Amino acid sequence: MNIRCAKPDDLMNMQHCNLLCLPENYQMKYYFYHGLSWPQLSYVAEDEKGQIVGYVLAKMEEDSEDNPHGHITSLAVKRSHRRLGLAQKLMDQASRAMVECFKAKYVSLHVRKSNRAALNLYTTTLKFTISEIEPKYYADGEDAYAMKRDLAPFAIQNNIVPFGDLSSSQSTDDKDVITERL
Ligand SMILES: CC(C)(COP(=O)(O)OP(=O)(O)OC[C@H]1O[C@@H](n2cnc3c(N)ncnc32)[C@H](O)[C@@H]1OP(=O)(O)O)[C@@H](O)C(=O)NCCC(=O)NCCS
Repeated sequence: MNIRCAKPDDLMNMQHCNLLCLPENYQMKYYFYHGLSWPQLSYVAEDEKGQIVGYVLAKMEEDSEDNPHGHITSLAVKRSHRRLGLAQKLMDQASRAMVECFKAKYVSLHVRKSNRAALNLYTTTLKFTISEIEPKYYADGEDAYAMKRDLAPFAIQNNIVPFGDLSSSQSTDDKDVITERL
């Protein structure tokens, strides 16, 4: 199993995976909006044959220059590939990219109150907390939990440094390597 940054070619397969796994679906142009605006932030999990078995579709919130934060628009893993740690890895990769590329301070998302698997993933594994309840957030009238994950402890634990914040003690060679990764 391989986790990698999503490419424009992947967007249709991500949409297909979304249609299989979730009642919240989006038009193709919304996938392109994410891919074109924040190409660093969305990731896919692919199997040995290169088929997409999971994805995370992510973006930055555009109204928050002084308090930059990311948002998870959609996350899903195909039934055949669940409980292998893929969702956790996809979420951590997107969060890492939010910090490295955009200095994100936290990441937010919405989840159905009844979605036990996702709630467990977010609270137990990824340390999100509930920030508020949004009544009737979903089209069928179900409430959502709005959740947030503080990315400061995550960045410290994983030695993640925003690309612009390299210390002056770092060698010129190191800086060149990191610039190339952009
Ligand atoms: C929620 C979802 C993305 C989890 O994907 P996944 O790859 O199976 O999750 P992971 O293997 O990374 O799970 C990590 C942890 O999350 C929790 N978790 C995941 N699935 C769970 C389940 N069915 N029941 C309880 N806890 C669960 C567990 O703590 C798990 O750790 P463990 O396996 O060591 O016990 C997947 O079930 C899914 O695609 N569901 C349908 C779409 C969806 O609900 N998306 C989220 C919308 S907000």
